[in-house]
Amino acid sequence: MGTRILGWGTALPDRIITNAELEKTLDTSDQWIVERTGIRERRVGSSTAELAIEAGRAALLNAGVDPASIDMMILCTTTPDQTVPATSAHVQQVLQLRGGAFDLNAACSGFVYGLVLANSMLTSGSQRILLIGAETLSRITDWNDRNTAVLFGDGGGALVLENVAGEGQLLSWDLGLDGSARHILQSDLGGKVQMDGREVFKRAVRAVVDSAKRTLEDAKVQPDQVKLIVPHQANIRIIQSACDRLGIERERAAIVLDRTGNTSSASIPLALVDAIEKGRLEEGDFVLLTGFGAGMTWGSALIRWPAQAIS
Ligand code: ACO
Repeated sequence: MGTRILGWGTALPDRIITNAELEKTLDTSDQWIVERTGIRERRVGSSTAELAIEAGRAALLNAGVDPASIDMMILCTTTPDQTVPATSAHVQQVLQLRGGAFDLNAACSGFVYGLVLANSMLTSGSQRILLIGAETLSRITDWNDRNTAVLFGDGGGALVLENVAGEGQLLSWDLGLDGSARHILQSDLGGKVQMDGREVFKRAVRAVVDSAKRTLEDAKVQPDQVKLIVPHQANIRIIQSACDRLGIERERAAIVLDRTGNTSSASIPLALVDAIEKGRLEEGDFVLLTGFGAGMTWGSALIRWPAQAIS
């Protein structure tokens, strides 16, 4: 048994905040933000549930499946709308999904964690899973702090997954966490994100490279066979540095952070769907998803587009 990707969808709020707008309220500049991060603008607004519903609905439509055929929904988010109940309860009701639903918080690695978990469930009895990453990081961003305000944005992305006979599309993965580094990126309940940016940067490159290497080795795939790398969209310099160390051409990276900023669990599906819609994937291509986030968590997954082994 394996996992097949049936459909995909995204959601972004209408409100755009450009670097020029941030220049008016912060001691920063468009030039600094673009050079140091690659971000030009970000979207803000909506609730996490609203973005999850829009992305989830688009993915169901794209897959052409009845919402009632979904027997599990996983909402990856680090910015739930309420402490109790889980935001997935709201999404499940509005999308009229059947079966269970729950939130998963592994910060910016959340979507990769969710994909691996979905694969386990699909190979042990679930039929169809709606996997969503949705975030409203703008609510936990201190808009007066130039160290963090320039980085984050809101958004959502979703995949419809189904179980299939044979190997399926998910070939290998690696998930990890170093809880001793949880202080370098944190937000207290009701508080705003605080971050040691330099330390996060250093550890992020290391974590992504090591995790991606383990994932490729596990599938016996060489870096130069990777057609598309879909990294967590935090900083273009982290992505370029990871690509260089992995031996994957920078041009093979899916990039949306210039338009979205860092949208945590939504960033990998947003970048993946952007690449799909631009026609960057062909049958048999190897696609490497890889991310890192608060915790510090990391996660990588290798998928084949679409699965050759699907029967
Ligand atoms: N505009 C202008 N200057 C700034 C800004 C800004 N927005 N932010 C910081 N600076 C200044 C600093 O104050 C510092 O000034 P100083 O030299 O006088 O002290 C100078 O720029 C350089 O600061 P650094 O922190 O060394 O800059 P760096 O090149 O490391 O870039 C950044 C900072 C962009 C935050 C980078 O470290 C980074 O991207 N880190 C990773 C962050 C990340 O990925 N976070 C998300 C994790 S995922 C999750 O779970 C949400």
